[in-house]
Amino acid sequence: MRALMIAAMATLTVSAAPAAMAACDDGEIVIKFSHVTNTDRHPKGIAASLLAERVNAEMDGKACMEVFPNSSLYNDDVVLEAMLQGDVHMAAPSLSKFEKFTKQFRLFDLPFMFKSIRAVDAFQSSEAGAALKTSMTRRGLLGLEFWHNGMKQFSANVPLITPEDAEGLKFRVQPSDVLVAQMEALGANPQKMAFSEVYGALQTGVVDGQENTWSNIWGQKFFEVQDGITETNHGIIDYLVVTSVDWWEDLPQDVRDQLGTILAEVTDTRNAEAYAVNLAAKESIVEAGGTIRRLTPEQRQQWVDAMKPVWEQFEGDVGADMIAAAQEINAGM
Ligand code: LMR
Repeated sequence: MRALMIAAMATLTVSAAPAAMAACDDGEIVIKFSHVTNTDRHPKGIAASLLAERVNAEMDGKACMEVFPNSSLYNDDVVLEAMLQGDVHMAAPSLSKFEKFTKQFRLFDLPFMFKSIRAVDAFQSSEAGAALKTSMTRRGLLGLEFWHNGMKQFSANVPLITPEDAEGLKFRVQPSDVLVAQMEALGANPQKMAFSEVYGALQTGVVDGQENTWSNIWGQKFFEVQDGITETNHGIIDYLVVTSVDWWEDLPQDVRDQLGTILAEVTDTRNAEAYAVNLAAKESIVEAGGTIRRLTPEQRQQWVDAMKPVWEQFEGDVGADMIAAAQEINAGM
């Protein structure tokens, strides 16, 4: 299992898109990588930048990677269709964004399914977890690696201490029916929305709250337009680095092998830092004046009691065996 380590993480400046835009030479295979976060203060953004840096240095003459961050090429709601059209070659949408292609990933959205990203990592490394990477090949998509972000927290324009505080509020959710059900279980009104639209929607009151990781709340500055963030750790955001089966299989064998090796190494290196990046983001939010609310064990249990019944609704999609496998791994953490 890949170890998670804490390390210092420098706060850098936001860079303009497209980042890591290499000058591709004639004859090089151009690899376009699209994602929705910043490049330098986010587990995914940093990983994509490192991937491009290594591909462009080590595969010079054979391949060249261009990274398009900050939703500058595609939002997550359209990137997978664009990939199937051959307009983009790699992306790393969160596991909540594969609904149109598989219902199996709903496992990862079930509230309180995993107690840490270490548990997620261990499950993904198991036979059942790893098999999910190839679960969409018949739909034309191939998962190459899982990339980590972190645990989700709730934020809103009012203090959230008990589940009743969320009642009647409008919450932005990723395009996942599990997340819709989770918010409905709280008596809240969920609204599916692209990541790039969330800040504006919170600012103008189109929605009252949202759920996300520290790195996303910091990177998108959601805390600026929220009353505070409640440390619930109620779910996870994790990614699948995905490509199209057709494009991948058309690559010359040596290119595919080298790219796969670099990607695996970048995955190991950056997944080990995902926790630290989120911790640094959390500290940055506090330093910038954001309010973070901690729950007592009794208060947190109220959120568990309110949201966990959602599991039953999705057991048919996810499989009772998968839930059991995930829980067994979780219990051993
Ligand atoms: C979201 O839409 O909130 C996240 O999936 C964005 C991301 O890529 O982390």
